[in-house]
Amino acid sequence: MQEIWTEKYRPERLDEVYGQQRIIERLKAYVDEKSMPHLLFAGPAGIGKTTSAIALSKEMYGDDWSANFFELNASDERGIDVIRNKIKEYARTSTSSEIGFKIIFMDEADSLTPEAQAALRRTMEKYSHNCRFILSCNYSSKIIDPIQSRCAVFRFRTLLKEDVRKWIEMIAKEEELDISDEAKELLIRVGGGDLRRITNFLQISASTTSEITEEVVRQSANIARPEDIRELVQNAVNGEFREAKKKLDRLIIEDGLSGEDIIKQIHDEIYEIPIETRKKMKIIDRIGEAEFRLVEGADEQIQLEALLADIASKS
Ligand SMILES: Nc1ncnc2c1ncn2[C@@H]1O[C@H](COP(=O)(O)OP(=O)(O)OP(=O)(O)O)[C@@H](O)[C@H]1O
Ligand SMILES: [Mg+2]
Repeated sequence: MQEIWTEKYRPERLDEVYGQQRIIERLKAYVDEKSMPHLLFAGPAGIGKTTSAIALSKEMYGDDWSANFFELNASDERGIDVIRNKIKEYARTSTSSEIGFKIIFMDEADSLTPEAQAALRRTMEKYSHNCRFILSCNYSSKIIDPIQSRCAVFRFRTLLKEDVRKWIEMIAKEEELDISDEAKELLIRVGGGDLRRITNFLQISASTTSEITEEVVRQSANIARPEDIRELVQNAVNGEFREAKKKLDRLIIEDGLSGEDIIKQIHDEIYEIPIETRKKMKIIDRIGEAEFRLVEGADEQIQLEALLADIASKS
């Protein structure tokens, strides 16, 4: 079986992490000092938070790293009691390394309720003599202030296009892929700076051919043709709701596209469609609302139809 590329190409060392230079410099200083405070890593998915936590530990402890690094996922472990017990058990054993503390990495810390976070805060204090916590989250606003104030906060940035391009080219070279410029651009655009997502699209593309064209990427990333999305929006803008709905059904049911992907593409395409600026602004505002609802778990078909109905009725 083929190895998953996101793991195969996960950087081992801090210096190999793409982008995030300022953060990496500070993490390297912790390694040099053999000391660090509790850390909070915040930022969108797939941009190097877990990778940096692991690379930091590898550099801090060398070969012993896995004995000194304990990973928990806040959303997997049901309830703070399970977390507390696991942390207690782990923290009880002393560290064999000269560093004097072990690292507890907690992913998706923002999925804990405020009550669970309050309990976590006490746990952090109780074990801070021999453990340092690295908390990772997508939204630091969901982390209670008392925890934030006990941590050095690092805001990971979405990777710049140039870094993403270099990443794609690195993998293409390693895997001997022939990838067109258009395919790279499309990957950069649909990946939205998320290297995990981009790497997965690339691996799926490469599973059928080593000649990666725009069309190959489009199929593996399951994205609609820009023309289809443009026609869909144009229908709605012209007030032709039934036509727009028919196209939407085809994208969701026949092509199997997800609501979130369709909405992102509508957002991209709207800029290309000739409509009066004021109208465009209203539509963009409405897209924002629908996207928010989808992320919060609303029904995608209903939300997209509501969006199209709204556009159609205002035109
Ligand atoms: N900055 C980066 N440099 C190099 N590779 C990266 C970077 N960010 C992500 N990757 C690639 O994507 C994969 C996933 O990254 P990582 O686990 O660090 O994401 P994350 O920021 O922790 O995301 P999440 O919020 O979903 O946990 C890595 O294994 C690696 O292949
Ligand atoms: Mg992670």
